[in-house]
Amino acid sequence: MPKLTVINRAGEESTIEADTGLSVMEAIRDNGFDELLALCGGCCSCATCHVHVDGAWVDKLPPISADEDDLLDSSDHRNETSRLSCQIQLTDALDGLKVAIAPED
Ligand code: FES
Repeated sequence: MPKLTVINRAGEESTIEADTGLSVMEAIRDNGFDELLALCGGCCSCATCHVHVDGAWVDKLPPISADEDDLLDSSDHRNETSRLSCQIQLTDALDGLKVAIAPED
């Protein structure tokens, strides 16, 4: 079970465990972080699952799709480590991944 460290908008860090195959969004949502709205349920059309990925992990993630890239452009809080958490599937290779929930747009 990969571990995932999540930093909420207050800057508090928590580590959770989640099944492989879940998306990072599902893992965060299912562990009670109500800041991550994930309004579209993971179909890459809302951008309310925006996270900032720890710099050490950015290159280990699957590449960003054109749709994800376009949606992230709609956020005022996009930076070079931004991803939509519904588009990252948890695998054992991502054990230890660390993300911060992006500020609300
Ligand atoms: S949950 Fe809507 S884009 Fe990720």
